[in-house]
Amino acid sequence: MKDFKDKVLVVTGAGSGIGQAIALEGARRGMKVVVNDIDPAGLASTEEKIKEIGVPVVTQCADITKAENVEALLKLALDNFGKVNIAVSNAGVTAPGPVWELPIQDINWISKANFVSHTYGMHYFLKQMIEQGDECCYMNVASGAGLCISFSSCMYHATKTADVVQTECTYLALKSRGITNISMHVLCPAYVKTTIHLSDNHRPDWAAINDDPYYQSEEFISGKIRAARGVSTGIPIDSVGLTVFTAFEEDQFYVLTHPEALSLQEARVKNIMNLSKPG
Ligand SMILES: NC(=O)c1ccc[n+]([C@@H]2O[C@H](COP(=O)([O-])OP(=O)(O)OC[C@H]3O[C@@H](n4cnc5c(N)ncnc54)[C@H](O)[C@@H]3O)[C@@H](O)[C@H]2O)c1
Repeated sequence: MKDFKDKVLVVTGAGSGIGQAIALEGARRGMKVVVNDIDPAGLASTEEKIKEIGVPVVTQCADITKAENVEALLKLALDNFGKVNIAVSNAGVTAPGPVWELPIQDINWISKANFVSHTYGMHYFLKQMIEQGDECCYMNVASGAGLCISFSSCMYHATKTADVVQTECTYLALKSRGITNISMHVLCPAYVKTTIHLSDNHRPDWAAINDDPYYQSEEFISGKIRAARGVSTGIPIDSVGLTVFTAFEEDQFYVLTHPEALSLQEARVKNIMNLSKPG
């Protein structure tokens, strides 16, 4: 897609960080913007910034882990602007710990926020884009963590890997059916300076922190400190909107902020090919 003016952009988790950066870049390019977030204050700040740029904007404050909210987001876009040209499924969260220590509610929360919500997005928005038949882009925001493995934040790696694979398979499914009007993209950033380490502030009610001992554990507390340190080493947010829109312009499927991190993926694939243990 080369021309964005007056086209319609929908972004989930756009109340801060990468989602906000993508929404603002779309607004600067003259797009009409529909933004979702679970956090009303973040959403209001994005809305304000888009209004300052001077393009139409509508907001949905809702939990994207529920299919009916994703369906309602599509309806909101259609009711206001009549179509969707770019959808970015970006909302995501992180929590530390191995799966035997994570409370079941966190297993559900991370799975739904990072993976299932993206699949709901593809279900509703791709169907609409296929019906429209005009030039469209669909992006899932995965992570560099979806291309490599580590001992920490297993759920994060697993859900982000699932995002990459779901985007790849969906690309092939579209191609196999001769559907050519939609370009698929998966964003795999390494560290970017955002507030992702504060994901607990964006828990839906059904995954609120409770009296489970995990939330007082060394694993939980040190994991959060590790995440904050990691994010603090990240690249500034400024370049991310441009990276994403360049990917739309040049039809790049895999979109990276740190191409040098691909060596980690290479190491994983080599292990699989050698039938070695993960390392
Ligand atoms: N920052 C990084 O270093 C980094 C690296 C790789 C991938 N990512 C991915 O980028 C995406 C954006 O993260 P970010 O770094 O901008 O973090 P962020 O915390 O600044 O932004 C995430 C946004 O998603 C919203 N959100 C969370 N759960 C939601 C829900 N259930 N419904 C609706 N909105 C919800 C949050 O309120 C927040 O505004 C995530 O998918 C994250 O996994 C980030």
